[in-house]
Amino acid sequence: MTTIPVAPSKVADLGEVDLLVLPVRDDDGAVLAVAVPENVAGFSVPQVFDEDFARSTGTGAGESTAIRGFGGPTLLLVGIGSGDLEGWRRFGAAASRAGRPGQHVALVVPPKDAAAQEAAALGALLATYRFDRHRSTQREGVGSIAVASSSIVGLDKAVASAATTADAVAFAKDLINEPAGHLSPSEMAKRAATRLKAAKHTTVEVWEKARIEKEKLGGLLGVAQGSLEPPRLVIGRYVPEKATAKTPHIVLVGKGVTFDSGGLSLKTGAGMMTMKTDMSGAAIVVAALGACDDLGVKVKVTAIAPMTENMPSGSAVRPGDVLTARNGKTMEILNTDAEGRLILADALCIGAEMEPTVMIDVATLTGAQVVALGSDIAASYATDQALSNALFDAGEAEGEHNWPMPLPAYYRSHIDSEVADMKNIGKTGEAGSVSAALFLQEFVGETTWAHLDIAGPGRSEVESGYKTRGATAFSLRTLLTYLRTLR
Ligand code: BES
Ligand code: MN
Ligand code: ZN
Repeated sequence: MTTIPVAPSKVADLGEVDLLVLPVRDDDGAVLAVAVPENVAGFSVPQVFDEDFARSTGTGAGESTAIRGFGGPTLLLVGIGSGDLEGWRRFGAAASRAGRPGQHVALVVPPKDAAAQEAAALGALLATYRFDRHRSTQREGVGSIAVASSSIVGLDKAVASAATTADAVAFAKDLINEPAGHLSPSEMAKRAATRLKAAKHTTVEVWEKARIEKEKLGGLLGVAQGSLEPPRLVIGRYVPEKATAKTPHIVLVGKGVTFDSGGLSLKTGAGMMTMKTDMSGAAIVVAALGACDDLGVKVKVTAIAPMTENMPSGSAVRPGDVLTARNGKTMEILNTDAEGRLILADALCIGAEMEPTVMIDVATLTGAQVVALGSDIAASYATDQALSNALFDAGEAEGEHNWPMPLPAYYRSHIDSEVADMKNIGKTGEAGSVSAALFLQEFVGETTWAHLDIAGPGRSEVESGYKTRGATAFSLRTLLTYLRTLR
């Protein structure tokens, strides 16, 4: 987890700095330093670099060139691209990645631009994430990161928000990266509860198996019955200080399959390799809830996270079996590997019963989503255009793209069953992410609802910019940005 100290500072007050990072942008072929005072820590900083130099470096977001010999710390010029939030995040990431172990890195950001300041700090922090818990030697990171500006006005708040967001992302990634052998459903619930108990204005309940039975969560119980590990359901609630009966209420639901072997419809060896990450949705909604108070979210938020393993065994659910979800609808299991929708069915019922303003679920739901949109775009589904647009805009702002997909009623036939109200698979080779979304829709009633299928972008095999390998916690920042806009 990130423990790099990050501090806001006035440029004039910067202490020990090994690497001073200046944002640069293209100015008609010249490389222009953006908002940098002429004097930093006692030496003068060039403002415009000559054309020869301009040709040797780039100003694209995150492109960097180090220069020495100005009499102070190493200067690192890093491009901000077009200067949008993504540019500033990549600027921050390039800065912190350039710092050697133990070094003090200072990023210079423009004054009075809270959005750019927060984005730069966030990029710097996100890029430092490492999952070293199971390595006998820990990789050492930079010693400290200072975010400096000529004016301190607003900088504290911007840097604090970035630190909160980065910490939420690191918390989610730590859960997601944790091997399934170390993170049973009960262990995940315990870590989630500990996290939420530490957050202000937040309460948490953990349902154990007896309660799950009493509450008739037939989908969750059906998936869990093949595992030696009992299921859990975590419900966290955030109620802001000034909440009234009229305050909007957002319910977040996340898929928490701590390991997806496929069950009796067993996955291949390769297909199973990454399936410890199949609880990403649950980790994301818990992490989001835990950050609400620190980010000053003004609406009520509830997180619902069903947790279970999907394992094959003599007690496992069989293809052909029928399960009854909380709302009484019956589900014919034809492929036990389509388990996410079964546990989400119950969780969405619980959420819908709360009659929230909006309900959003996040799930690593289908391989078909990866085929449709690849590793960098999530599929979004919504019963409401304004909600779809809001999530799209939040995703664009955060560099977590989601693309609107349809919920066509005329595809409902894809999940028609002979023996039950629906079957848990669609047509072979056709619209698999869509039929999974239509399945979920059966459990939301009249609630304004959106679904993010993050199977593709939920993990990354590459490291780039502020993105780290393994868990990405993709859509967590989108949710936080969305929640922060609501009143
Ligand atoms: N967890 C998987 C989806 C997944 C696949 C996530 C690849 C991330 C990467 C899900 O439970 C699953 O197995 N879905 C099946 C459904 C099918 C049997 C209808 C799939 O997509 O193959
Ligand atoms: Mn599966
Ligand atoms: Zn799964």
